[in-house]
Amino acid sequence: MAPVLIENVYKTFPATRLNRSEKAGDPAGLQESLTVLRRIHLDVADGEFMVLVGPSGCGKSTLLRLIAGLEEISAGTIWVGGQRVNDLPPKLRDIAMVFQSYALYPHLSVYDNLAFGLRRMRQGAGQQSQQNMKKAGMGQDANLELAQILATSRWWEDAIGTLTRRLPPALRYLPEAERLIDERVRAVAKMLQIGPLLHRFPRQLSGGQKQRVALGRAMARNPQVFLMDEPLSNLDAKLRTETRSQIVSLQRKLGITTIYVTHDQVEAMTMGDRIAIMNQGQIQQVAAPLELYQRPANRFVAEFIGSPTMNFLTVQVQSPSLLIHPKFRLSISSEWDEVLKPYDGRTVTLGIRPEHLSLGPPAPKNLEGEVSRVEALGSETYLSVQFEGETLQARIGPDHAVRLGDSVWLAIAADKVHLFDPDSGRSLRAPVPA
Ligand SMILES: Nc1ncnc2c1ncn2[C@@H]1O[C@H](COP(=O)(O)OP(=O)(O)OP(=O)(O)O)[C@@H](O)[C@H]1O
Ligand SMILES: [Mg+2]
Repeated sequence: MAPVLIENVYKTFPATRLNRSEKAGDPAGLQESLTVLRRIHLDVADGEFMVLVGPSGCGKSTLLRLIAGLEEISAGTIWVGGQRVNDLPPKLRDIAMVFQSYALYPHLSVYDNLAFGLRRMRQGAGQQSQQNMKKAGMGQDANLELAQILATSRWWEDAIGTLTRRLPPALRYLPEAERLIDERVRAVAKMLQIGPLLHRFPRQLSGGQKQRVALGRAMARNPQVFLMDEPLSNLDAKLRTETRSQIVSLQRKLGITTIYVTHDQVEAMTMGDRIAIMNQGQIQQVAAPLELYQRPANRFVAEFIGSPTMNFLTVQVQSPSLLIHPKFRLSISSEWDEVLKPYDGRTVTLGIRPEHLSLGPPAPKNLEGEVSRVEALGSETYLSVQFEGETLQARIGPDHAVRLGDSVWLAIAADKVHLFDPDSGRSLRAPVPA
């Protein structure tokens, strides 16, 4: 089977010259080499659905391209199914990738685009990937079975198929391999609701349709590993939700190890067994969705996951467990005593999620502020509250009659606070990320 293990991987793009400056011999035209991935460790279990999230430019697509073999790694090792794949060309890695810019073959119909990977398995690549899989001890793989049938199909079947292609459908001869391909293609097309588009060419499709064809092409192949780079970004909200659950249930059914890149928080939280959060070429934390939410390893993760985002305030520690702000004093549980000892007299960053702020009475432990925005959604209400030059976000029940400009007192749920080192941003509680 096929776990994916990424060990200490680096990626540096070499320095390049800007064309015009090169002619002018301008040294300033030399772009510096760029290290976009650093010390990447990621252990994706066999059959696991791993979601990769992070801001634009943090290196998500680059990491997928390294795993797929489309880009050479600068240092480190990548293992797929127990096999070191650093030097293995992409087609021998048996990985299907859905690109961010759905690269379809423009001269092939939707049907042929979907069938492409399967047909390629017939033409030798299948035999090679079979040997590959055998080497890696994957004799039981469902893919191997398909590859065997595709690779051992008989030449005379193809010849008769070609000869009868122009006859009416009932008289056409479909070789066994083509019949299998046809079954697969139609099943995938049905699932992704692109059945009626099979005869069209990519130029005749909308962005969302192209995206589903690209997804279908990867799924039809039943590879060892799926790599998906924001495969749903062009779909409307309804189709996106539908396709999301189809991908998840298909992935569960096939048990194919998947690494899925997204910008979408809801996608990340609902699809993944675990989430890996990246920032500036480094992995910040890898954990199950709720653990990430409840125990972020650092301020970046705390801020990135959750919407509206976590509130942050600077407070001073007074041992054993009092947090002092010019406008409030909050006493927290004695469980913090040990952690806070070294911070006595120093400042730390207090983090509190919007749902852990509530309306309270005037009190020294509460925060007085002015409501600058009210979003009543019916089931709950979001407030923006101006406090000491900061905007705090609070989520309160639907039955409070709060209006713009009101003065309110916010109470912090003391057992829900997060504390971060003000310099490193590291959470004072969660384990330090590797
Ligand atoms: N071929 C290349 N040569 C030089 N730099 C590159 C190359 N490809 C990507 N980069 C740089 O590497 C960094 C990471 O790019 P990457 O495409 O992996 O980001 P990403 O996380 O996928 O972003 P997005 O969410 O916008 O798709 C960026 O700063 C990008 O400019
Ligand atoms: Mg990208």
